[in-house]
Amino acid sequence: MPPQHWSPTSWQQHPAAQQPDWPDHAELDTVLKQLSTFPPLVFAGEARALTAGLAQVADGRAFLLQAGDCAESFDSFSADAIRDKLRVILQMAVVLTYSSGVPVVKVGRIAGQFAKPRSSPTERVGDIELPSFRGHIVNDIAPTPAARVPDPGRLLTAYHQSASTLNLLRAFTKGGFADLSQVHTWTQEFVASSNEGRRYEVIAEEIDRAMRFMEACGINLRAEQRLHQVDFYTSHEALILGYEEALTRQDSLTGDWYDCSAHMLWIGERTRDPEGAHVEFLSGVGNPIGCKIGPTVTTDEIIELCGRLNPERTPGRLTLISRMGADHVGENLPPLVRAVRDAGHPVVWACDPMHGNTFTSDSGHKTRHLDAVLAEISAFFAVHRAEGTWPGGVHIELTGENVTECLGGAEEILDAHLDQRYETMCDPRLNARQSLDLAFQLAELLRS
Ligand code: PEP
Ligand code: CO
Repeated sequence: MPPQHWSPTSWQQHPAAQQPDWPDHAELDTVLKQLSTFPPLVFAGEARALTAGLAQVADGRAFLLQAGDCAESFDSFSADAIRDKLRVILQMAVVLTYSSGVPVVKVGRIAGQFAKPRSSPTERVGDIELPSFRGHIVNDIAPTPAARVPDPGRLLTAYHQSASTLNLLRAFTKGGFADLSQVHTWTQEFVASSNEGRRYEVIAEEIDRAMRFMEACGINLRAEQRLHQVDFYTSHEALILGYEEALTRQDSLTGDWYDCSAHMLWIGERTRDPEGAHVEFLSGVGNPIGCKIGPTVTTDEIIELCGRLNPERTPGRLTLISRMGADHVGENLPPLVRAVRDAGHPVVWACDPMHGNTFTSDSGHKTRHLDAVLAEISAFFAVHRAEGTWPGGVHIELTGENVTECLGGAEEILDAHLDQRYETMCDPRLNARQSLDLAFQLAELLRS
């Protein structure tokens, strides 16, 4: 049930940070009207199923793996890229589930992750000062003033690209690709020959053997849906509120409102003002929601956010995504975890080990070191183990491709290598090998 004064438009009465300065409001209104007549991308029942999955996580009986691009691009939009991203996430989930015995709830930063919050409204490229790039849903990354003008037509492109991405994801996850008998075929060539790839093959072989064993025992594996299909959910930062409002629909079954642009939506570190428009908007939709929690958050603020975003204390409704930076978790996180626990809020605690560990390398690339990423996850686990709470999940920026954007990993990517395949439009992503490496280390933490 939404708060009393909530409606899909009530956010407009609150200060909305990070909204584009649309030059043509008549055109924006036309686009938003059009979007509000388009079919929903997801159904309320699916969002409720994800809430139920996350309730298991909140209860310490499952683990959340949320992963994908920092920002999806209108330019590198292809079936191969979607498949490669999905399969690295499925591989990570297999490693985690097989090694730790804990079920994994799989959520992509995909099919709608187009908007980027920026620290400054302008940025310097060479000698010119330009309006900041805000993600392909708003403007283009090309370093010219014309490209940086917000274009409402992009909202429609974002909707259509989300729809086709989701369509392919549904086909892959329900139509045979994600079948557990296919675990071997998920390994990409450049991963197969690596250490991580070989480690993965061992698990894949053991799963095959277990399936042959069950078959030999007379269990009809073909009849068991869960071996052949995967539940895979979509998520993005709900940043551009006009777009989110236009896709918000009333569920005919329950009468509740759902933001049907994705299964799960999250609030970013820069827009989590408890009095702000983003918190107001997401407080009233029935979807499971996330909220990023950075190093400046206070215990009072976190309790206020929990109260506003999940007043009924529904398990699975709220995921707090901590992104402190590896060096700050040990100090910052314990009082927050204690405050939330003592207030009786049933949250999922997830760790975003990416955004607090970004720096600019000597070669001038925005990057992250896999060691820092792992260190933040380890520290996050240590805090939860000490407090008796459940380290519920991770939130990772990755791609299925063989990019060189983050440092380290078994192939030891160095600063000098970053130039080879630095392709991200926004933050640096782990490549497939680094992601698999992370999954193995995470599995060890989960097991211990
Ligand atoms: C992001 O998830 O890409 C992002 C901008 O994160 P944050 O809001 O935590 O800075
Ligand atoms: Co990012």
